[in-house]
Amino acid sequence: MNAQEPYALHIDDRASIEHEIRHYDDPRAASIGALKIVQKRHGWVPDGAIPVIGQLLGISAADVEGVATFYSLIFRRPVGRHVIKVCDSVACFLTGYEEIRDAVCRVLDVGFGETTVDGRFTLLPICCLGACDRGPVLMIDDDTHFDVSPQDIARLLERYP
Ligand code: FES
Repeated sequence: MNAQEPYALHIDDRASIEHEIRHYDDPRAASIGALKIVQKRHGWVPDGAIPVIGQLLGISAADVEGVATFYSLIFRRPVGRHVIKVCDSVACFLTGYEEIRDAVCRVLDVGFGETTVDGRFTLLPICCLGACDRGPVLMIDDDTHFDVSPQDIARLLERYP
């Protein structure tokens, strides 16, 4: 899916978003759910989907874009098969964030915001994941990994082919 292509909402996604809208008095509140539905289909949210979601919700594309930009777990560019998010907030910073970041960057040969050449991983920073007493913490897709050490990184990544 190219970022510039006109976007046709999948019929199942349309139904899911309409279902989502019914849960809220204010359709604006359904926008994060709608974005997640589109992201689940493609792995990210193409530009063309933003006005389509806005139209369905009866709100402006700018409002939808604002929500998409605010939430760090909504991806506005294609990402790898797996997304690694390394917590860079203060508690993890104090328990070894920098070593974890460096180990992931070294093993994958990418920096933050980049995807490996084989399209397997995208690496992103993320703020506090709510497990500050178990840092350093990182997420791979929906899995949260606690008390990670730099030596664990290569073995951990092998679990995500
Ligand atoms: S600071 Fe990393 S989980 Fe809270």
